[in-house]
Amino acid sequence: MKHLANKIAVVTGGTRGIGRAISLALAESGAHVYALYARSRKSAEALEEVALKKGLRITTIRGDLSHEESYSRTVRQLHESCERVDVLVHSAASGVHKKAMDLSERHLKWTFEINFFAVHKLTTELIGKMSKGSKIIGITSPGGTRVIPKYAAVASTKGAMEALFRHYAFELAPEEITVNLVCPGLVMTEAAKALPELEQMLNMTLDYTPSGHLTTPDQVAELVRFLTTDAARQIVGQNIIIDGGKGLLA
Ligand SMILES: NC(=O)c1ccc[n+]([C@@H]2O[C@H](COP(=O)([O-])OP(=O)(O)OC[C@H]3O[C@@H](n4cnc5c(N)ncnc54)[C@H](OP(=O)(O)O)[C@@H]3O)[C@@H](O)[C@H]2O)c1
Repeated sequence: MKHLANKIAVVTGGTRGIGRAISLALAESGAHVYALYARSRKSAEALEEVALKKGLRITTIRGDLSHEESYSRTVRQLHESCERVDVLVHSAASGVHKKAMDLSERHLKWTFEINFFAVHKLTTELIGKMSKGSKIIGITSPGGTRVIPKYAAVASTKGAMEALFRHYAFELAPEEITVNLVCPGLVMTEAAKALPELEQMLNMTLDYTPSGHLTTPDQVAELVRFLTTDAARQIVGQNIIIDGGKGLLA
């Protein structure tokens, strides 16, 4: 039997890029996945179509998690649809690409709203539906601990998220709810394609990656899937890097 049969998973940013691969991997393991997204209905419909063809249970829910009204609507829908939540994956992120000295308070607040406050609001909102054996997984970035040019805003939110998740992990472990982070290196998603100086970053990443390959969304999804298995229950509060070894040389 598939290990997530009869389980419910919520994946934010679950319709595109890394989140999309995670939604598919968890659904393939038997979960009914609620894939949340903000704007791109086309990506959501494309995912639903793939799910239908493969006989997977994926329901997409549209709502900008950084916007109070649509956040409340999304949460209401989740409460109505999910009697419990066994897996919660935070993959949604957005942000302003500027040098630190060019960041206004507004830029930072906006980036924190989606990448940090929405993560905490949703976790605390859904924690009542999680029980022994549930998993919370956050997708962070090497920017959480290192410098990536013009990444100061997103990097700050990822650093804050990592600190918050350490406390989640510590507080929830006694209840047998496991919390971990997955930290991919550069993955060529639409978001990555929008990075400033992409070509330079791509060349540098390939030069300094001992495996010689970029990380793919499916590889990240496989790691997330493993973290939802019983075999991973003793992995608690870790930030697992999946980058082909690039971090070894940084
Ligand atoms: N790509 C990389 O190189 C890389 C490396 C390390 C870490 N990460 C992390 O991996 C995660 C996924 O990144 P990705 O590259 O796969 O991104 P992506 O392709 O841009 O997908 C982002 C997803 O988040 C959703 N989203 C964005 N803003 C939202 C909001 N305000 N409310 C609700 N949903 C929102 C998007 O919905 P719409 O499609 O509707 O806009 C989309 O489904 C992020 O946390 C990112 O920081 C990425």
